[in-house]
Amino acid sequence: MSKPSSLFDRVPAYAGDPILSLMQLFQADARPHKASLGIGLYFDDAGRIPVLDCVRQATAAVAGEERPSSYLPMEGLPAYRQAVQALVFGAGHEAVLSGRIATLQSPGGSGALKVGADFLRQHGTAGQVWVSDPTWDNHVALFEGAGFEVGRYPYYDEATGGIRVQAMIDTFRCLPAGTVVLLHASCHNPTGVDLTHADWQAVIDVVAERGLVPFVDMAYQGFGDGLDEDAWAVRTLASQGIEFLVANSFSKNFSLYGERVGGLSVVCASQDAAQRVLGQLQAAVRRNYSSPPAYGARIVEHVLCSPQLLALWQQELGAMRERMLQMRRGLHSALNSRLGTQGAFDFLLRQRGMFSYTGLNPAQVERLREVHGVYLVASGRLCVSGLRTDNLQHVAAAIADVLEREAAETA
Ligand code: LMR
Repeated sequence: MSKPSSLFDRVPAYAGDPILSLMQLFQADARPHKASLGIGLYFDDAGRIPVLDCVRQATAAVAGEERPSSYLPMEGLPAYRQAVQALVFGAGHEAVLSGRIATLQSPGGSGALKVGADFLRQHGTAGQVWVSDPTWDNHVALFEGAGFEVGRYPYYDEATGGIRVQAMIDTFRCLPAGTVVLLHASCHNPTGVDLTHADWQAVIDVVAERGLVPFVDMAYQGFGDGLDEDAWAVRTLASQGIEFLVANSFSKNFSLYGERVGGLSVVCASQDAAQRVLGQLQAAVRRNYSSPPAYGARIVEHVLCSPQLLALWQQELGAMRERMLQMRRGLHSALNSRLGTQGAFDFLLRQRGMFSYTGLNPAQVERLREVHGVYLVASGRLCVSGLRTDNLQHVAAAIADVLEREAAETA
């Protein structure tokens, strides 16, 4: 008699996540000079994930409160949600004051994207989302998981290192009303190349004309040009009467990756609509994970609601931003002096945020990792916050090596 097959015999092996599995490979690498430029984690100049001073102080204060651990409401902590609105839109924004934004506490930015996607899938959109080409890999998986068909609109221009704005707008012009368009508020992941204000306005015009539904991912507020500057597009969309969604995350700007702290805001036409939307968001939360985790949100709430800790956070965030800019300048000059090039690496200075699209191909990325212990994502995305004063030269030498080798092979 043949053995009955096991229920899970046909479950395929998981190939692993292209970004998260890099972190495991990196951790298992024993080489002392290895450099983590793959996953989007901010490291300080000593190569540590920092515990911000404002977080340290807020953690002590929250620990001293000795609250029982009850369930949070499905939509999260009230003061936290209010603080999220103030940070994302500005406390005095008309959309905030008129109560036409439904804001929810979410488990990180990814949790916000999933709840938002579920909500949109159920409540009247075309079941199609368009993401930038390229985008964060997980956007595609998240939306497909929520039952969307995923299309890609032109974005990055390999030839110029800029954006194919006209092609992007032409694509938007052909999309049916109700199509969701996933946009990056700032610090585009993976390219580091952002729309200018004029580009944004052209995008907003076509979104309004076609009745598209923007879903803005703002995972890096404060890592580009500043907290307010990086929220410019979100605030402009809200001022121009567009109904849209925005997912924000505190993983990077609070260095609180493991606590899963984020928010989802849906900007509606009226307060009444916002209340009904909030109800449906609660239902989506209940179906997904019932209610959000409390700990990280209490810490962020404590910082955002204390004028002294808020000022300290802004200062610490400014220092992180400045360090990333310094590392961009450092790698730019180290590469130019090693390779004797002028201008070839200027993209490092133009791009913003944690990521830089280097143009290195998968074979070059593999050589960087295997021969030099320098970890990038296969797409050629380099995380500048993994650069340090004491590894810049090693990384520059490694990149120079793979580029020179390619040049020699093609000569
Ligand atoms: C990244 O893009 O590296 C980060 O957002 C981390 C992640 O979850 O992929």
